[in-house]
Amino acid sequence: MANCRRDPESEPESVFPHEVGLFTDSYSEKSRFCFCGHVLNITQNFGSRLGVAAGVWDSALSLCNYFESQNVDFRGKKVIELGAGTGIVGILAALQGGDVTITDLPVALEQIKGNVQANVPAGGRAQVCALSWGIDQHVFPGDYDIVLGADIVYLEPTFPLLLGTLQHLCGHHGTIYLASKMREEHGTENFFQHLLPQHFQLELAQRDEDKNVNIYRARHREPRPAHHS
Ligand SMILES: C[S@@+](CC[C@H](N)C(=O)[O-])C[C@H]1O[C@@H](n2cnc3c(N)ncnc32)[C@H](O)[C@@H]1O
Repeated sequence: MANCRRDPESEPESVFPHEVGLFTDSYSEKSRFCFCGHVLNITQNFGSRLGVAAGVWDSALSLCNYFESQNVDFRGKKVIELGAGTGIVGILAALQGGDVTITDLPVALEQIKGNVQANVPAGGRAQVCALSWGIDQHVFPGDYDIVLGADIVYLEPTFPLLLGTLQHLCGHHGTIYLASKMREEHGTENFFQHLLPQHFQLELAQRDEDKNVNIYRARHREPRPAHHS
């Protein structure tokens, strides 16, 4: 620990401790989580740089819990996660046998890569790529079996971009799992009640009342049968 015994008379600002790092704007926290029999070591790099991408949000943990309780089968499935933050959800999907692409804005990729390295054995099927909704989705194929998102429905201006991205990525028989904290002030309910159902068949798969987190499962609407007169 740094020596912080200084003369307060000669140095009025020294009422603030001088420990190195106490007032730095970033710090890392390593946490352990256990899902589906896997121990996940996740580093969260808090600070202004990563913003909301830094931490593991309740929705991510609810979604991991859901995969465990429902025994969701990822084996051999082509999976993509949007707005992954720490990557915990996609990492679990990869450990459960999925061929997973974990995506977020470029600023978050280093954190996700570190967590993938720490948890997915070499040769495991998890790749990390930049995907900004509404901009990069066409770089990715449109035939994913499973599309994942935890707490990504919170910025109303991005809703049309997110919708377009989901429409492109989700294969015809694919399934989307979205876990969301239902924040009234962020229009989250509007997204699930009005916007998403215009394009997808939607069901509320689980609700955690205490955390106010809903998990939705969505599929493309069946193409309407042609009418013959
Ligand atoms: C609230 S955090 C959730 C992080 C993580 N999924 C979790 O639940 O722990 C929202 C995430 O969405 C990402 N995000 C926000 N806007 C985005 C955009 N336009 N395109 C891609 N990702 C975006 C952020 O970088 C962040 O990682």
